[in-house]
Amino acid sequence: MGAKRVVVTGASSGIGAATVRRFRANGWDVVGVARRADRLAALAEETGAAVFTADLTSQTDVDGLRDYLAASGPVHALVNNAGGAMGLDSVENSSIDDWAWMYEINVLAVKRVISAILPLLRSSVQHGGSADIVTVTSIAGHVAYLGGGGYNAAKFAAHAMMEVLRLELNGEPIRVIEVAPGMVKTEEFGLVRFRGDAEKAAAPYENVPDPLTADDVAETIVSSVERPAHVNLDLVTIKPVAQAAPSRLARGELTVRAEA
Ligand SMILES: NC(=O)c1ccc[n+]([C@@H]2O[C@H](COP(=O)([O-])OP(=O)(O)OC[C@H]3O[C@@H](n4cnc5c(N)ncnc54)[C@H](OP(=O)(O)O)[C@@H]3O)[C@@H](O)[C@H]2O)c1
Repeated sequence: MGAKRVVVTGASSGIGAATVRRFRANGWDVVGVARRADRLAALAEETGAAVFTADLTSQTDVDGLRDYLAASGPVHALVNNAGGAMGLDSVENSSIDDWAWMYEINVLAVKRVISAILPLLRSSVQHGGSADIVTVTSIAGHVAYLGGGGYNAAKFAAHAMMEVLRLELNGEPIRVIEVAPGMVKTEEFGLVRFRGDAEKAAAPYENVPDPLTADDVAETIVSSVERPAHVNLDLVTIKPVAQAAPSRLARGELTVRAEA
């Protein structure tokens, strides 16, 4: 058998791009998916990954992705990473459009991609081996925080989807892995959330010692897939040491306290 092939969504920046780099460094064939063709082309040039331009909120685009994958070889793993937050307003005052955007990309697109690619994952394990579905949720999918509203709701839903999927796939050699990061300092997550306002985007990270990097999460994703086939890391929660909960962040240097 040749190299295994993995599909990584949200590959044009942040955690997705870092995950593509990690898989490629470990010898995987990779198909990186996102909307921005120019960024995907640069990543392809850098890493040797194949890329596919698609808006995952479009059924037509996802059908195109499935057809491309079916025609170009087996698929052994899928990483649902595309997603994001929009706004930080209260449930009362936030915009319905922001909620719809978050539900579309964090929930419905994940369901759409799984429905399209699961048959391809099954085909790849017909002759032995196993396959993987990894979904990047968030600690926001497990713990509420003020202003989390629509993002909490969407990521809780994505978490629930992974729990149901694991029940449905029981008996098949297909692992369902949820990676739930806490604060990750990526270039675009905050800019998207605050519609390009760099000051607002930078504020949550201010004085937080060593937030996670995109590569920290990428390493976790890749190592969870590379565990022995019978070992399923159902849920991996990964946070910086400075973060005890979404809204419990230490700022400034971490220091031991005097003994009580
Ligand atoms: N950063 C954090 O603190 C953090 C913490 C916990 C969880 N997460 C989760 O981790 C994942 C990655 O976050 P990140 O920090 O790496 O954010 P990011 O840099 O903003 O990356 C988001 C990716 O999703 C893609 N995307 C967005 N909408 C899409 C669509 N309609 N169709 C296809 N691709 C789409 C974007 O590419 P295009 O714009 O090119 O389409 C981009 O590559 C997300 O699910 C996020 O919710 C992030």
